[in-house]
Amino acid sequence: MRAASEAGEPSQGGEALVLWHVDGPVARITLNRPDKYNALNLPLLQELSRALDRAEADDGVGAVVLAGAGRAFCAGADIAEMAGLSGLAEAERWVAARAEHFQRLARFPKPVVAALHGFALGGGLELALQADLRVAGESAQLGQPEVLLGLLPGAGGTQRLARLLGPARALEWLWSGQRMTARQALELGLVQRVVPDGEVLAQAHELAARIARQAPLAVRFIKRCVWEGLEMPLAQGLALERQAFAQLLATRDGQEGVRAFLERRQPQFQGR
Ligand code: COA
Repeated sequence: MRAASEAGEPSQGGEALVLWHVDGPVARITLNRPDKYNALNLPLLQELSRALDRAEADDGVGAVVLAGAGRAFCAGADIAEMAGLSGLAEAERWVAARAEHFQRLARFPKPVVAALHGFALGGGLELALQADLRVAGESAQLGQPEVLLGLLPGAGGTQRLARLLGPARALEWLWSGQRMTARQALELGLVQRVVPDGEVLAQAHELAARIARQAPLAVRFIKRCVWEGLEMPLAQGLALERQAFAQLLATRDGQEGVRAFLERRQPQFQGR
């Protein structure tokens, strides 16, 4: 078992905006602007993308937990950064720069579990929605409050909430800007587990570690089929799945899995 704990590269000569910690097969990536409820400014998002690059390149990392330091997971886009933008061209550049980092997470090939405590608001919820699974503390509050600022969620909120909840329920939450409790989020299917507040990280780690112990290639191919398939017509999604199945069957791990079954022994997967 590997264990390492360290901060990422400090940008701007200050403290690291993203922390990196490895425990066994799980890398924990922590948003680290606790005095601002981890509000997402561009330097933080850049560090997040770098941490994801590192987690992707490290063969020992089978899954990622995405967490927030301090009192909350994340209170959204940095409103102070937004206030400094003037004019459409500047706003478009800022939106595009931010989107690049959100897409980095959306395209990340290994499983990601978001550990939500305190607030997961605005861009914080949008970030969590780009993770694969979400574990929330029982007093966590989730929401898209952008409408209260005269804005809308610009990093996937309208699209992902509508796909997850259906359009009418998504519109109700998006139009009200109200926060939902962890229990409401569970009932809506936005989070998969609600756990005592003090156990969020441990439970998110446990869930991520359990997935990371499965055959690595199968886990990644399943993720790809589910997310890419959702963007396709069914027939195309089924073709993607068949192709992935054939590819897996031809891998060493696919062969090992079926042989181990026939030989009545535990398979030894190697991720190739
Ligand atoms: N962007 C920038 N700074 C933020 C922030 C955000 N999204 N959310 C919180 N902060 C900062 C506050 O400005 C404050 O900074 P200061 O101490 O230097 O003044 C600090 O974090 C603490 O926030 P505060 O509002 O005093 O804490 P609170 O406990 O009373 O309320 C929230 C917490 C999360 C309910 C409240 O901060 C909030 O509504 N944040 C904005 C959420 C939002 O609209 N997100 C979508 C943005 S598009």
